[in-house]
Amino acid sequence: MLMKIRRLLLKGGTVVDPAAGRNRRVNVLVENGRVTGLARNLSARGAEVVDCRGRYIAPGFVDLHCHLREPGAEDAETVASGTRAALAGGFTRVCAMPNTDPPVDSEAMVRFLVGRGESAGLARVHPVGCCTRARQGRELAEIGGMVAAGAVAFSDDGNWVADARVMRSCLEYCKAFDKPVFAHCEMTGLDTGVAHEGPVSTRLGLAGKPDAGEAAAAARDILLAHLTGTRLHLCHVSCAATVELVRWAKGRGTAVTAEACPHHFTLTDEALAGYDTNFKVNPPLRGEADRRAVLAGLADGTIDAIATDHAPHTRGAKEVEFDNAPAGMVGLETAFSLGYEALVLSGLMRLPQFIARLTAAPAEVIGLPVPRIAVGAEAELVVLDLREKWTCDRDKLVSRSRNTPFAGRTLVGRVQGGILPGGRMWGVGAD
Ligand code: DOR
Ligand code: ZN
Repeated sequence: MLMKIRRLLLKGGTVVDPAAGRNRRVNVLVENGRVTGLARNLSARGAEVVDCRGRYIAPGFVDLHCHLREPGAEDAETVASGTRAALAGGFTRVCAMPNTDPPVDSEAMVRFLVGRGESAGLARVHPVGCCTRARQGRELAEIGGMVAAGAVAFSDDGNWVADARVMRSCLEYCKAFDKPVFAHCEMTGLDTGVAHEGPVSTRLGLAGKPDAGEAAAAARDILLAHLTGTRLHLCHVSCAATVELVRWAKGRGTAVTAEACPHHFTLTDEALAGYDTNFKVNPPLRGEADRRAVLAGLADGTIDAIATDHAPHTRGAKEVEFDNAPAGMVGLETAFSLGYEALVLSGLMRLPQFIARLTAAPAEVIGLPVPRIAVGAEAELVVLDLREKWTCDRDKLVSRSRNTPFAGRTLVGRVQGGILPGGRMWGVGAD
């Protein structure tokens, strides 16, 4: 899949620099994995040339939230298959959530995942460790050891840390290591349904989860983050009330960041009418006003990043009654295109701002240097065709799982390939 290229000229494309907030028509020369030239009429004898006319070149995307399922559910995804899907979607780095079997709650488990990522040699894997041992919400996990092994954040994703005393000490521990806590906000007691609670769930006869369950959980965690001074990151914000709370918290100076997922800003609970389990996700698809509030939050920066919550499940697991199906949908390969249409083509934001939501903003959350395309910097970039129309075909997904709710949907804009550190290229020109 990857081809190592010593000298490469990306010719005629437009470089999107989200840090500078502008686009530039320049050729990009990459030598031995580094950007060595960035100029309009740059040419390089002997270099491999990729024709990028009409295309855009952006830093590689960073996904704050994906599930690689290793260890324990390798029939649904592996580190290798998931990081391959990541590259297909333009993500050169992914944060791997720890709700595996067994969960990633120890130094040894973090080392295992880092090693898996290195041997796959595709998108870089940044493990997220558990907040609590076995994700049980009772005692803290080995946070210090996991930091030493490379964990970039801590989360019991899938579960909310219900005990406020435990969450408080988790935040205090993470503060000592300057690591953020990623909160999955669904308050215990309000989290038992399978769909957003509202007229649609009533009509369809599905047990509801109210938006208050998410917002109340987020409110508590925001207040605890303020109290402890720890960085809190809210996962998959899905409703208007949570967006409001984040806006309030940022105004008050709380160190809070938030992510939103493409499914929450492109779909609503009306999609559940056919009881297709590929639309079942936690938190659930909500109503139109919530969908619009999430878009507005992304547009005004209340929501910092776009994350996928890529959650692969096998066909067998999903082919059951709606109530019994696992929640989650694959997302790595469609996130860019869905976001481009919903945010840029819709006029809500400009291209560099959108790219920042996929690059600089998530990188900052986990303390990575701002991804840039600059002379002297390591080349880690993607090539985008914003005109390409394509149809999402379940059978062509690179992920080992096929549980997308977007099958058959025509999308605009596509990641065509890119370059990883070391001058390794995939897609355009490489195969
Ligand atoms: O829908 C979801 N699926 N939400 C989560 O928080 C967890 C994820 C999974 O692991 O399948
Ligand atoms: Zn979650």
